Amino acid sequence: METGLPRALAPDVAPPVRADLGDILIRRWTSQDLVAQFEAITASFDHLHAWMPWLTEPRTLDQQREFNQAASANWPTDEGFNYGIFDSRGTLLGAIGLHDRVGPATLEIGYWCHIAHTGRGVITRSAAKLTETALSLPGISRVEIRCDAANTRSSAVPRRLGYRLDRIVPREQRAPAESGRGMVWVTGDGIG
Ligand SMILES: CC(C)(COP(=O)(O)OP(=O)(O)OC[C@H]1O[C@@H](n2cnc3c(N)ncnc32)[C@H](O)[C@@H]1OP(=O)(O)O)[C@@H](O)C(=O)NCCC(=O)NCCS
Repeated sequence: METGLPRALAPDVAPPVRADLGDILIRRWTSQDLVAQFEAITASFDHLHAWMPWLTEPRTLDQQREFNQAASANWPTDEGFNYGIFDSRGTLLGAIGLHDRVGPATLEIGYWCHIAHTGRGVITRSAAKLTETALSLPGISRVEIRCDAANTRSSAVPRRLGYRLDRIVPREQRAPAESGRGMVWVTGDGIG
């Protein structure tokens, strides 16, 4: 949550804990997901470390347990509503979250993909579903996807979904591949 910004969601409002896309299941994390999370992040370290400020060093299982416990005990956690993305056999493909931290009537979507499952539309399809979910929640009329201007794979997701590039702003360089220029992509009735 940026300092001083009001929350967009009323305290008693939350998105559904799961969305079934047929061949893809988006669902809230459970304690059973710990090892799959750890293995996915470990296998994808170089790819995620380049862009994700929370992955400065390889994860230990204990660090992952902390995330897992918070995510399975709270809906939302301090970070937001965090979901895993799974295939029909239960394999973890990636992660996506809805975050109430960018201001009135607006939710932000963030994501990452397991390195072995990129390039198949898993994230684009999941972001499409969560965009629809977010815009159906009371009080929400705008969804944002924020990424570094150099992160072309990430910016391709909102572009593919018809989001509009609202602005490019200077921002702190928080991960090694970032340029320090942040893109803000927007969609919804509340985008003016
Ligand atoms: C950003 C990131 C999630 C994008 O992953 P991705 O695999 O490119 O995204 P998708 O899963 O949506 O796959 C898109 C590809 O599938 C293709 N595709 C196939 N079927 C598709 C479908 N039904 N719908 C949409 N795209 C489809 C697209 O054309 C695209 O192909 P391309 O790679 O040739 O351009 C990934 O690069 C990543 O995890 N990066 C590191 C973490 C990160 O940067 N996170 C975001 C921080 S802001």
